[in-house]
Amino acid sequence: MRVQVAIVGAGPAGLLLGQLLARAGIETVILEQRSPEYVLSRIRAGLLEQGTVDTLEEAGVAQRLHKEGLVHHGVELCFAGERHRIDYQGLVGKSVTIYGQTEVTHDLMDARKAIGAPSVYEAESVSVHDFDGNSPRVRYRTDGGAHEVTCDFIAGCDGFHGVTRQSVPAGALKTYERVYPFGWLGVLSDTPPVSEELIYTNHERGFALCTMRSMTRSRYYVQCPLTEKVEDWPDERFWDELRSRLDAKASAELISGPSIEKSIAPLRSFVAEPLRFGHLFLAGDAAHIVPPTGAKGLNLAVSDVRYLAHGLIAYYRSGDSSRLDRYSERCLRRIWLAERFSWWMTSLMHRFPDTDAFGRRMQAAELTYLFRSPTAQKSLAENYVGLPLED
Ligand code: FAD
Ligand code: DHB
Repeated sequence: MRVQVAIVGAGPAGLLLGQLLARAGIETVILEQRSPEYVLSRIRAGLLEQGTVDTLEEAGVAQRLHKEGLVHHGVELCFAGERHRIDYQGLVGKSVTIYGQTEVTHDLMDARKAIGAPSVYEAESVSVHDFDGNSPRVRYRTDGGAHEVTCDFIAGCDGFHGVTRQSVPAGALKTYERVYPFGWLGVLSDTPPVSEELIYTNHERGFALCTMRSMTRSRYYVQCPLTEKVEDWPDERFWDELRSRLDAKASAELISGPSIEKSIAPLRSFVAEPLRFGHLFLAGDAAHIVPPTGAKGLNLAVSDVRYLAHGLIAYYRSGDSSRLDRYSERCLRRIWLAERFSWWMTSLMHRFPDTDAFGRRMQAAELTYLFRSPTAQKSLAENYVGLPLED
């Protein structure tokens, strides 16, 4: 098989890239190691920045998002039992949209099916070759045997544990990493959300987040030690723990019910530099990870893909490779700002096992300052709604 761009990974980054390129008449194939059902069963992000919504519109996949997504004009931060609202709309004139990553993925899968572009699910032993030379190739296996795709470019959209970043010679890559000493235990339930807006809580028992997927489906998270297993958390224990971390009103109003999904995610900051090696480009979680506190993981994947798609489209339309040449640098500017915000929100809102009394007082003082300072609140709002994208 020969295509212009071979995409490894059918998460939101790979599917969105495929869709933006297909609309510009560029041929792609997507190779994904899991089944479509497995990809859709992973419950992850839920908060979309305006720039993400704009990019999904550009890809022609925003109809259901506009119908079913919930537009939020602010957020609440809770500390010492009191909630403080940060008014996005009043401070920066923008909002965010709550719409699950699963739904974004679903819409992109449907769009790819409708245009008849090829995807290979359950592709085994995917490997990338000669991306530094002139005949980039991707090999994989299926039940039917071994296959090879030749292409002009390879897009590594295969997430943190994928094969593309790991195929880059070690000396060509610099990585930066911080692993946090806790995880998030998440529960999805068909119960109405406890409040109309998201609530991020700093409590002495640990962080908690109340978010949602719709007015009848809630998503809640509690900080937990990395040693915990999902089996240690029957529903009852989860709801009791969550209730104990919320303010009195939320705690009294919380409606619990059977969980329909429960999982633990570790927290990590990670950046690989650069994002381009000859004909191979990395995008999304393949290149970087943020702790989820800033809600930036999915949004960064989308902004990488937007820059990459525009670079490839300019190249195929007019032979102009300047955007591709600037891809790594432009993405990394945005990535490091998102890393900063996600690290800062994580430091502000969690209980760190090895922090002493001084550290805890500093965290309290930082929150007190934030609640008094319109400038600090504006900075927080600016980051949650998303820093502006370059053209
Ligand atoms: P992924 O969604 O990881 O997609 C990569 C795809 O590549 C996968 O389908 C994978 O199966 C496939 N793949 C991997 N290896 C290979 C291979 N060798 N060959 C072929 N295919 C391969 N972000 C938030 O903003 N808020 C959250 O609450 C949040 N929660 C998260 C919870 C978890 C457990 C994880 C892992 C991430 C979470 N994120 C969250 C981050 C967000 O979901 C990611 O940033 C987003 O999924 C990135 O999209 P992606 O397409 O780059 O990568
Ligand atoms: C969601 C997850 C986040 O990490 C976040 O910061 C906001 C919302 C969510 O799952 O809805």
